[in-house]
Amino acid sequence: MKNNLDQLRIDPARMLAAFNELAQIGATGDGGVDRPTFSEAHLAARRWFRDQIEKAGLEFRSDGAGNHSACLACGPKDSATLLLGSHLDSVPKGGRFDGALGVMAAFEVLRTVKDAGLKLKFNLEAIDFTDEEGTLVGLLGSGAIAGHLTAGLLQSPRGGRQALLEGMQRAGLSDESMLTASRPKGSMAGYFELHIEQGKRLERSGMNIGIVSAIVGISSYRLTFIGRADHAGTTTMDDRLDASQGASAFTLAARELVMKEYPDCVVNVGRMEFTPGAFNIIPAQVEVSLEFRSPDEDEFKRLDTALTACAQKEAQQFGLDLKVDFLGKHSPTPMSTSSQQAIIQACDSMKLTHASLVSGAGHDGQSFANLCPIGMIFVPSVEGASHAPREFTQWEDCVNGANVLLQAVLHFAALTA
Ligand code: GLV
Ligand code: MN
Ligand code: MN
Repeated sequence: MKNNLDQLRIDPARMLAAFNELAQIGATGDGGVDRPTFSEAHLAARRWFRDQIEKAGLEFRSDGAGNHSACLACGPKDSATLLLGSHLDSVPKGGRFDGALGVMAAFEVLRTVKDAGLKLKFNLEAIDFTDEEGTLVGLLGSGAIAGHLTAGLLQSPRGGRQALLEGMQRAGLSDESMLTASRPKGSMAGYFELHIEQGKRLERSGMNIGIVSAIVGISSYRLTFIGRADHAGTTTMDDRLDASQGASAFTLAARELVMKEYPDCVVNVGRMEFTPGAFNIIPAQVEVSLEFRSPDEDEFKRLDTALTACAQKEAQQFGLDLKVDFLGKHSPTPMSTSSQQAIIQACDSMKLTHASLVSGAGHDGQSFANLCPIGMIFVPSVEGASHAPREFTQWEDCVNGANVLLQAVLHFAALTA
């Protein structure tokens, strides 16, 4: 790569101004943001991003899945596009860095390349993917682009069909439009994303940059423990079919199972819904929102079998029935060698220290594994906090990450020339 390109850097003040403006949209007042997919705050953030794109003199594009993009035609005519991106949605009451940093850095990289008048071998696109967080479906916008989205998945999303319908209506989208967003194979030259680490490994090791080697697989289920409603005062303890007992016993047993037998995996019960749900009624039903993750496909499958068997066992123990609804799965995904190589070269050229990491969080790059090279750059999270308002990354680290993203794009162009 030409020496002078090695010196190209993003404009940190411009990126900070944009990042701070964005963090005001849906701000919760404690440093966090509340922008679940297609909430009013999320839609406002998307309108703001569109406005920023147009003000920057970049081309705005959107698709039937609601993905919003800034596009820069810096490649030869009809060349493929290198996507850079992340997401503007947040988990409920989440942090202001998760997703937002990646979109703002991608946008800043396009502005930098535009200002420098660079011609690359591909076009660039800074994209905000719809519903990365899975409030509704999970990796919805990227899955739609990759052609993974099906009408069936839209009928039984993990966030509930009604919530999806209402959200799509607010955003002016529909089942039909969602299924039109897929892009032809060969249209994407690659995908890079900058993200906060959301764990403590970089902070603990004092490294500047994490280079993701793989993203964990994520599976989600709704388990319904079914007992019988009865009077909570007059039914003896041995005469109850109490759905809460099965759900609680399962939650504890699942934790023990994973800790003892699957040390590289994690399991989470993020929500329980009691029916009828009153002080004085024995719960007839408890719906459990279950999610588990593994970096390895074989282990992922074994854990799946073990957790469903565990739920059956705990239901039986309390005389309950169990309904198992599978809500979707994203397989563990290795990152591409060429992308990791480009990120290593970028870090080395900037004299930043780096470590190879597996991502415990899901990311949109997973959707593109079979379509194009994918790569991810992590920057340190203070105390590893994420999916919470106290999520924080030092601004200097954010700037390092955005510069690594820029340099990785340039090195990737040189590597794949
Ligand atoms: C996304 O942040 C996820 O891993 O849940
Ligand atoms: Mn994210
Ligand atoms: Mn997240």
